[in-house]
Amino acid sequence: LRIIYTDTYQNMSKEAAKILAGQLWVKPDSVLGLATGSTPVELYQNLVWLHEAVGLDFSEATSFNLDEYVGLPEDDPQSYHRFMHENLFDHVNIRKDHIFFPNGMAKDADAEAARYEAAIAAAGGIDMQLLGIGRNAHIGFNEPGEAFARTTHKVVLKKSTIEANSRFFSSPDEVPREAMSMGIGTIFHARHIVLMASGAEKAEAVRDAVCGTITPRVPASILQLHPQVTLIVDREAGALLR
Ligand code: F6R
Repeated sequence: LRIIYTDTYQNMSKEAAKILAGQLWVKPDSVLGLATGSTPVELYQNLVWLHEAVGLDFSEATSFNLDEYVGLPEDDPQSYHRFMHENLFDHVNIRKDHIFFPNGMAKDADAEAARYEAAIAAAGGIDMQLLGIGRNAHIGFNEPGEAFARTTHKVVLKKSTIEANSRFFSSPDEVPREAMSMGIGTIFHARHIVLMASGAEKAEAVRDAVCGTITPRVPASILQLHPQVTLIVDREAGALLR
């Protein structure tokens, strides 16, 4: 695990943008695994800027998002689908038919999960997977539990995650209770993983993930076993690492 220490959210975002842009420059037909949430917002702004200013090219890239809420249509303002279009996809030259999400409206969650796994495999697997981390060290929507989920699956969100995500909704009651998420195994198959963390509320999760016991109670701790992980922290999120 390589750790890049930065001072601010802005610089964390720049370091992440360099790595993702480097990936696309070296392999224009990269398969990216992308994340939503507050953490990558400025990274995506940097990528849009690189696209506009120096022609960072997404025309051959493919993307698979980590997760999507169950029960929100694609065009719902709170869907992760909409988030990604507003923050990145609508501003770069990625092909619409190269954008993949788990379908949170699917009637048969198991069939949908199998479809998503098959689509990732058909694309050749994920070259670079971007991750944020929850305060409870969740990655994707893989919440602390008794076992590491292998593949894409339907998850019931923890109360703490519903509360944390309620900042994007008008009330916690509106936050969906379930989501479809890549499994820990899906994430682990990515060739390179880039984990970003910003802010003091992530410091304990980052410390436990990097220095703690590898356990499904700390989902991100599995990343200690992956050969190609780059963790980028700002000062607050990295405060307990040194
Ligand atoms: C988002 C995702 C989540 C977030 C995590 C951190 O697609 O899968 O695991 O990365 O909840 O969220 P923020 O960045 O909002 O603190």
